[in-house]
Amino acid sequence: MSQPEGQHNELSNLLNESRTFPPSEEFAAQANASAELYEKADADREAFWAEQASQLHWETEWDQVLDWSGAPFAKWFVGGRLNVAYNCVDRHVEAGNGDRVAIHWEGEPGDSRRITYAELQREVCRTANALASLGVGAGDRVAIYLPMLPEAVFAMLACARLGAMHSVVFGGFSAEALRSRVNDAQAKVVITSDGQYRRGKALPLKANVDEAVKETPSVEHVIVVRRTGGEVSWDDSRDKWWHDVVEGKPETHTPEAFDSEHPLFILYTSGTTGKPKGILHTSGGYLTQAAYTHRTVFDLKPESDVYWCTADIGWVTGHTYIVYGPLANGATQVIYEGTPNTPHEGRHWEVVAKYGVTIYYTAPTTIRTFMKWGAEIPARYDLSSLRVLGSVGEPINPEAWIWYRKHIGGDRTPIVDTWWQTETGAIMISPLPGVTSTKPGSAQRPLPGISAKVVNEAGEQVPHGSGGLLVLDKPWPSMLRGIWGDDDRYRETYWSKFADLGYYFAGDGAKYDDDGDIWLLGRVDDVMNVSGHRISTTEVESALVSHPNVAEAAVVGASDPTTGQGIVAFVILRGGVDDAASGEAALKELREHVSREIGPIAKPRQIMVVPELPKTRSGKIMRRLLRDVAENREIGDVTTLADSSVMDLISKGLKSSS
Ligand code: WT7
Repeated sequence: MSQPEGQHNELSNLLNESRTFPPSEEFAAQANASAELYEKADADREAFWAEQASQLHWETEWDQVLDWSGAPFAKWFVGGRLNVAYNCVDRHVEAGNGDRVAIHWEGEPGDSRRITYAELQREVCRTANALASLGVGAGDRVAIYLPMLPEAVFAMLACARLGAMHSVVFGGFSAEALRSRVNDAQAKVVITSDGQYRRGKALPLKANVDEAVKETPSVEHVIVVRRTGGEVSWDDSRDKWWHDVVEGKPETHTPEAFDSEHPLFILYTSGTTGKPKGILHTSGGYLTQAAYTHRTVFDLKPESDVYWCTADIGWVTGHTYIVYGPLANGATQVIYEGTPNTPHEGRHWEVVAKYGVTIYYTAPTTIRTFMKWGAEIPARYDLSSLRVLGSVGEPINPEAWIWYRKHIGGDRTPIVDTWWQTETGAIMISPLPGVTSTKPGSAQRPLPGISAKVVNEAGEQVPHGSGGLLVLDKPWPSMLRGIWGDDDRYRETYWSKFADLGYYFAGDGAKYDDDGDIWLLGRVDDVMNVSGHRISTTEVESALVSHPNVAEAAVVGASDPTTGQGIVAFVILRGGVDDAASGEAALKELREHVSREIGPIAKPRQIMVVPELPKTRSGKIMRRLLRDVAENREIGDVTTLADSSVMDLISKGLKSSS
């Protein structure tokens, strides 16, 4: 198989790791999960999932758990009807928990809001009434381009309540990225804010929407939340303040039950080609697995836990583990608007101490950043409330895992390393706290009810102790139901590699250790993972060649001690552009150009000017060799290059900027 070569350092690290951490007796005694859960699910998968689904409120019971006859398009809980927002909000109020805090919201500048389930119900109803008054109904698409404000949650749930689909676009994406997503989804409404706080500064946000909607004919209204009070330009025929359209609307709204397979949302993610894929999720199965995994993997006790997931709602983690999972379970959670070092590097720990956070879920890149800042920072805060720690987004290296356990978890808390994807909708592979003896760096085992395998190129399961490709060999409730508007791409991307076997190919390399536990080894395709964010090499390449000075570009993900991978670009400049084009300033401008085209997360760490790119005889760029250059390694086998002298040319006379 093709190993993600960029990661061999971490890899050798992972393979030498052999420590295990068994659960404490006290934790095990009170845990939601138990070893029997695996047996129960294995004995009758569909009955197991039906039991999980029955934790939700269904207006009409389903008559079939799974219909896989139209594979790879699944139907779960066929014939069942439910309202997702009712399940996340109203039913908790009706059960007498209206006074429970749903959201402790903490703004970056230090302002805060406390929202109970009863208040959440009123906010969601008013927002739903407001959207309905603007003509939003079942099946319509609403784009949400907001920072981490409570209004983002209200807007998502209001869409769900109306049966409209939301398409949340991360607030760090550019106007251009927003435009293409709005057009692909044909969104009727865009919800945004005047600006957003980022590292202590108020930055504009609506300006990007103004730019984007110049070329989005489907958009009828732009709703603007006032956050920073910054100046905005205004189009009276299109723009409306959130407070004008929402405040004064009735605080009640009768939810309608929708089919279990009614679309809930689209979320765009990068693939191996330049065009982002609109991943489609539906209602009953998605909510079932979101709630089940949140309850089981984090050992949630809704009456006593204070849960905090640090993701942004612009990513799937924010959808499933800030909005749908926790709220379906009636959890109390913290939502934080800002960055971990604003106004100081102890901000997260200050928030943990302030609210008594018990469950904390973050990404390895954040943990490595905390490591860099030093263990003395968390040591200044009372973190004794923490009882479960989670990790997601990329393989966690054992050092970071151990540091996390020791300095954040007081050498006491279980750590759950959760593997999943935008496409899987919810956690698929993870230890269970109180059950699993955890291993630093391994996600270990598919959850009860989930089936995954490590296979070779022929689709045969590899023996313990060896590596291969990760596949999901049985359908699961929260699986994607397709790519918005592109069924062929859906089949081709995920189901063609092991078509005869009917396996879903995840795009990740993995291995079994001698105990049969799974270790994830990173992507095997042309997708980079930068700070837990998926970015395609092609997307960055197209952004680069859209600059007038660039003739050709090749992009690789090179291993990076903090961000997992860093983006390194190799560019051939156009003939005729003068020497100034390869100067420091010009290369900086190229990096800015990518940031404007896609967003700051896609800005290359380094750009190197080269005379040629290494290509095979069929013209495919050999990124493996460029990764060798980017990681200062001896260059590997060049025999399949069309011109084997190219690598010498590249190594000589490199000019770079970072
Ligand atoms: C890709 C999915 C799932 C929410 C965040 C990212 C990588 C994710 C892990 C983990 C090793 C992981 C995989 C996967 N990944 N979690 N615990 N261990 N790798 O969602 O943007 O859809 O990216 O992230 O490579 O395919 P996403």
